[in-house]
Amino acid sequence: MAREFSTVGVVGLGTMGAGIAEVFARNGLRVIAVEVDEGSIARGLGHIEHSTDRAVRGGKLDESGKADLLGRISTTTSLSDLADVDFVVEAVPEHLDLKAEVFAELDRVCRPEVILASNTSSLSITEIGVHTGRPGKVVGMHFFNPAPVLKLVEVVKTVVTEPDVVDDVEALAGKIGKEPVVIGDRAGFIANALLFGYLNHAVRMYEQHYASREDLDAAMRLGCGYPMGPLALLDLIGLDTAYEILDTMYHQSRNRLHAPAPLLKQMITAGLLGRKSGRGFYTYDAPDSPTVVPDAQTPSDTDAGASPREVQRVGVVGTGTMATGIVEVFAKAGFDVVVRGRSEQKAKTAIDKVRKSLEKSVVKGRLTEEARDATLARITGAVEFEELADCDLVVEAVAEEIDIKRVVFETLDEVCKPGAVLATTTSSLPVIECAAATSRPGDVIGMHFFNPAQVMKLVEVVQTISTSPEVVATTRAVCAKVRKHPVDCGDRAGFIVNALLFPYLNDAVKMLEAHYAEADDIDTAMKVGCGLPMGPFQLLDVVGLDVALAIERTLYLEFREVGFAPAPLLEHLVTAGRLGRKTGKGFRDYTAA
Ligand SMILES: NC(=O)c1ccc[n+]([C@@H]2O[C@H](COP(=O)([O-])OP(=O)(O)OC[C@H]3O[C@@H](n4cnc5c(N)ncnc54)[C@H](O)[C@@H]3O)[C@@H](O)[C@H]2O)c1
Repeated sequence: MAREFSTVGVVGLGTMGAGIAEVFARNGLRVIAVEVDEGSIARGLGHIEHSTDRAVRGGKLDESGKADLLGRISTTTSLSDLADVDFVVEAVPEHLDLKAEVFAELDRVCRPEVILASNTSSLSITEIGVHTGRPGKVVGMHFFNPAPVLKLVEVVKTVVTEPDVVDDVEALAGKIGKEPVVIGDRAGFIANALLFGYLNHAVRMYEQHYASREDLDAAMRLGCGYPMGPLALLDLIGLDTAYEILDTMYHQSRNRLHAPAPLLKQMITAGLLGRKSGRGFYTYDAPDSPTVVPDAQTPSDTDAGASPREVQRVGVVGTGTMATGIVEVFAKAGFDVVVRGRSEQKAKTAIDKVRKSLEKSVVKGRLTEEARDATLARITGAVEFEELADCDLVVEAVAEEIDIKRVVFETLDEVCKPGAVLATTTSSLPVIECAAATSRPGDVIGMHFFNPAQVMKLVEVVQTISTSPEVVATTRAVCAKVRKHPVDCGDRAGFIVNALLFPYLNDAVKMLEAHYAEADDIDTAMKVGCGLPMGPFQLLDVVGLDVALAIERTLYLEFREVGFAPAPLLEHLVTAGRLGRKTGKGFRDYTAA
């Protein structure tokens, strides 16, 4: 017979415990919450007040619903008050000794059939369970932050967990509106095992001054559609919690990518724990507040940097997907555009593609017919490079092969007027190679648009060691005019977005290869637990497995980081011709549309 749950104990009312208590109470269960002292109780209840107030403001809860919810939560400082509960979730800080102590006490206090769950993000449920006389009734019930919002719950079973216990916890998760995924006991489970390598990598990039916090975060939000950037997310998670999770993962995996970045330890020691302490990577207007306030690192608009050059006429070299998207972006923003193709036909086809795309916008009511005609009138086709002679900016978007790009840059160097900015939209090749093919490396820069260029707001502005500050300023000013969000980064493989994205995708393939979880569960965990627009296998199939493999190889060759070595499974799929959606088969099989 399945267990009935009407009263649950929640131990710890911090970031997670408060959210978990709210979820249970919201769904009609009574909650007894345990904290260390009255001050911590007040703080925990404050969390719940804030969160339910937000729900009322957002129309998701009414005042009487809020009062009922709060009325179902009682608090105590004594674990012995949990003697009559039907279920317990522990959410105390991420330390094994502390959790062991709490579980030993819960085992003494709670009825023998009661299931004891831990919300740990990374510690071994097996190790926690052995501190009780009922290891078969100890499971992981891992909620995601913020618990009232995110639907994923990882239900973690150990080798001794009793099957009916797993069933009952799954059913309970369903009852409180969550989507459970059942998995084995491995550090980081699914979502954190994949997420934290990425977060740690972002901290390392920030630590190395590779990009600013704002740019790192904007790159992942705008380039990948993530709900939050990595550093803002770490502030939400809590740097101390993140450190413990990484440290545990590292000790289990010995994967250097999980070794916590030294900066994390420094920040924790200085008391910068993220939102909960009012300061982490960002500064907040008060502890526990989500509102970021300016601080010494906030970029100022009045920064008197180099002055930008005047840009009115833009050349685009290439006639492919990216080139035509970029032509449209510039022409729509009022620039005169020359699109250079290898033949008249190619140039004409490119302009036709722009015409079709503009036509679609007219049909959707996003563009007037006059604006369409004016935009098209600003575009001319060209075959001879000489026709780019008087362009103020030339954007190269030809095939992703360095020899081809080098020839383009040599030619641009011969024909373009002095002072023209020469940009490449390469996504993986060194920009300095393009610069070195010219006699004016100071004028060469990377301008990495995302596909589709008309839609995606992000442009990675890649400076080489030679790029002049004026050229950077010009490129940023042009981005603003075409309403793109520029982020500055250095000339390293993967720039920001791909460098952070592809190692994570590779880790997902390795997890699948290790038979820890199925592709569907991994996709669900990342989508539902982290709010990502697509799961890793869905995304890999869209990107193309051959493209992903090429990027992963580039990253591996540049950084020689063992953890970046492409997963053998990915290599095998590519060898077998399973390249994703474009071939109808990748990690999944697709039927022709
Ligand atoms: N922060 C996240 O994003 C996140 C997400 C999922 C899971 N988790 C996990 O949830 C757990 C809690 O993390 P958190 O971020 O909420 O930490 P937190 O520091 O915000 O909260 C922990 C709370 O536990 C209380 N506490 C300490 N000892 C206690 C005891 N003996 N009895 C009762 N209460 C006690 C503390 O006073 C504090 O309020 C950790 O295991 C963590 O790994 C965290």
